[in-house]
Amino acid sequence: MDWTFHNPKFIADAAPELPASFIAGGAWSGHRKFAYDLVRFARPSLIVELGTLYGTSYFSFCQAIKDAQLKSACYAVDTWMGDAHTGAYGTLDDSMYAAVNAVSAREFPGIGTPLRGTFDQALAAFPDGSIQLLHIDGYHVYEAVLHDYTTWLPKLAEGGIILFHDTVVRLADFGVYQLWAELSAMPHLHFEHSNGLGVLFPKGCPASFQPIIGRQQELADHYG
Ligand SMILES: C[S@@+](CC[C@H](N)C(=O)[O-])C[C@H]1O[C@@H](n2cnc3c(N)ncnc32)[C@H](O)[C@@H]1O
Repeated sequence: MDWTFHNPKFIADAAPELPASFIAGGAWSGHRKFAYDLVRFARPSLIVELGTLYGTSYFSFCQAIKDAQLKSACYAVDTWMGDAHTGAYGTLDDSMYAAVNAVSAREFPGIGTPLRGTFDQALAAFPDGSIQLLHIDGYHVYEAVLHDYTTWLPKLAEGGIILFHDTVVRLADFGVYQLWAELSAMPHLHFEHSNGLGVLFPKGCPASFQPIIGRQQELADHYG
């Protein structure tokens, strides 16, 4: 199957519970079309996201599953309490979780499931080797993203994909770029726009993805 550049309509853009400017204009928004095309191409049966906030990335995955009528499940793990980079959500926290939960239940029933808790707590919910697409977008200091990578890697299926956001951010103590430099000897794609998105195949690159990796520049030009 060839890679298709879709022109999706993201239901989340019109969800009254979500801040539209954030979903369509926030730091992750520049990767939504790639994420959508990726899910439609890879057809992962299980997607897990670590770090969801208002769901810019999460709802892109869900949208692709819905539109392609895949029998896939997408889990969004977050405390919805914030971290030292996003700031503590304080009184916002319950309304943010409630918003993501409401949109998920209404627009993506049977597809998307928010899991409120820490990433470490969620580990027990997923068997080893079960996840085809893992998105790591939690706390961005080097030690935290390394911890998320090493603790969740056993959960990834053979040929599975890990997405890392913020791979080019060098502000303050952001350290994803450092981990990305260490990992990117493995097969990957990388986009520098919208704070950077790394697409890593740490357990081998499936034959279907080898020609896609060869189209790095074309994809970067298209999505960037
Ligand atoms: C950068 S935001 C996620 C952005 C989101 N992917 C998007 O598309 O907008 C990071 C989120 O990770 C959550 N977080 C950070 N560390 C966490 C941990 N160890 N366990 C659970 N949630 C965590 C924070 O609460 C925050 O909402």
